[in-house]
Amino acid sequence: MLKVYAREVSGFRSLGKILASIFVAFCFATQSLTAATASIFHPPLDPARPRSSYIAQAKRGMVVAAHPLASAAGEAMLKAGGLAVDAAVATSFALAVVRPQSTGIGGGGFLLYHQASDKSTRAYDFRERAPALATRDMFLDTKGNPTSFRYNGIDIPDSAVNGHLAVAVPGLVRGLVELHTKYGKLPLAQVLAPAIKIAESGFPVYPALAKLLLQRESVLKHFPGTFKIFFRRSKPLQTGDLLVQKDLAWTLRQIAAKGTAGFYDGAVANLIVTEMKRGKGLVTANDLASYAMREREPLTGAHRGHRIISMPPPSSGGAVILEILNILEASGANQEQKLTYGSTGAVHWLTEAMRRAFADRSIFLGDPEFTKVPLKGLISAEYAASLRASINPLKATPSSEVKGGDPEKFEHPSTTHLSVIDSQGNAVSSTQTVNYYFGSGVVAEGTGVLLNDEMDDFAKKSGTANVFGLVGSDANAIKAGKTPLSSMSPTLVFDHNGKLRLVLGSPGGPRIITATLQTIINVLDHQMSLADAVHAYRIHQQWLPDKLEMEPDGLTPNVVKELKAMGHNVVEHVGMGDVEAIEVTESGLIGVSDTRSDGKPMGF
Ligand code: GLY
Repeated sequence: MLKVYAREVSGFRSLGKILASIFVAFCFATQSLTAATASIFHPPLDPARPRSSYIAQAKRGMVVAAHPLASAAGEAMLKAGGLAVDAAVATSFALAVVRPQSTGIGGGGFLLYHQASDKSTRAYDFRERAPALATRDMFLDTKGNPTSFRYNGIDIPDSAVNGHLAVAVPGLVRGLVELHTKYGKLPLAQVLAPAIKIAESGFPVYPALAKLLLQRESVLKHFPGTFKIFFRRSKPLQTGDLLVQKDLAWTLRQIAAKGTAGFYDGAVANLIVTEMKRGKGLVTANDLASYAMREREPLTGAHRGHRIISMPPPSSGGAVILEILNILEASGANQEQKLTYGSTGAVHWLTEAMRRAFADRSIFLGDPEFTKVPLKGLISAEYAASLRASINPLKATPSSEVKGGDPEKFEHPSTTHLSVIDSQGNAVSSTQTVNYYFGSGVVAEGTGVLLNDEMDDFAKKSGTANVFGLVGSDANAIKAGKTPLSSMSPTLVFDHNGKLRLVLGSPGGPRIITATLQTIINVLDHQMSLADAVHAYRIHQQWLPDKLEMEPDGLTPNVVKELKAMGHNVVEHVGMGDVEAIEVTESGLIGVSDTRSDGKPMGF
């Protein structure tokens, strides 16, 4: 279908373009641009899949995570009298075992913690940081071109993504253990027990894991520590094979016994440093020992009378989500913006808002300790109004004409997400990652720890795209000790009375932002149930490349045709995040796990 439209649109000459504009204007005038989707559910549901595998209702506590074993680990903590942080930490360590393609103790993350007793929300940053030896041009050759990674005489492409040089200092263990000490109630050993058991006894490889192992085979096979775990008879593990991670179980036991010292000092740290030396990686014993979690001021905004709290820099997630919501709501325009879900007008406005906010992401955002981020400006209503005024309601703005605004004037399925609420109303929203699938591909031999490739989230060279196609600027250039810019967007939404309503987030590189955003919009603007909001078809626009991505077969052919006539470069894209969300309702908690992936909500 889409190919047919591409042919139609590319055939327009100037007269055609004029006629198309008149047609679009006519449709707006007659409101015939508001045709919605035929069905909002994506992906079309397997009739054999039970509803209980993706929606759960509960009264006392809920955990939603991207693998049933991880949700079960968290739920067991809640049932044992643990608090939200006990459950979140147990779930995170379990995810580190069952989703090595997405997260792991060789990675990092962000976490929002809402404490019911004083209604406070705190943001924690335990994301990976550049090692002290990192330098601005470390991934470029003398001519300024990206380098490959040479290992055992073999050239592996893209040294920022693959191999030892791509590894930044991991923060996940420091964050989880310190947060457990601060807010947990159960002993650390109890919280780590489910992850240790799964690593020790193994779990069956599921189709998505098998598929990604095959996709990354050409990189993973070069590293002996990785090969030993994820390959059998020289082939990547297949669906149904048991994935046993004895070394990882040993490492997790060190953490259970010694806390952060079990990872950042002693035997595990020594093995990580030895691995780094083996491949000329930069992470040293001192980098590990000196890694510290940081508390950040959460970012707060509003939409349709709700308060949105999300992650501040060094994540771009919260700022971009708030900037887009502000553009859509700016200048009292919200009634106009309440267009039918899936209509041409709704998709156009959303796309144009995404385009502008992602341009600002590329230009202004970076680690606030190293670069001045005009944060208040970026999320101010006045700035949003100025951007909104630049949107032509009838025509796409080419990304080449969007250069980033002037916010200073207004100054004010890699990755995984988990959401938890306990019986006291405490909540955790946390997104964690090793960056690209299986991170750098390098397991530190003897530890079972798959190390991240978070260095690729820096702008290696101004204007050059990273593995997610994102471009950056000096604000996100590499520097020793600096944190690479992230898109991770753990988010909380509070209603008009200040009561917690939604806990949510998603994996998906830049699509983390747009998947989280659209779930919020679907609930608050389109009044969808949480299950519909999570499963509705999604779109994505990230400024560059100049593409309007949409999940296949979502929008009606007419809407696609109209969007193309307006100048949008429409392409199909499969893989738009994996939202794990909880809604607090009058009748209890509703947990929804995105059927785009393998998660499950569990509550009691
Ligand atoms: N590594 C993906 C992100 O942090 O955005």
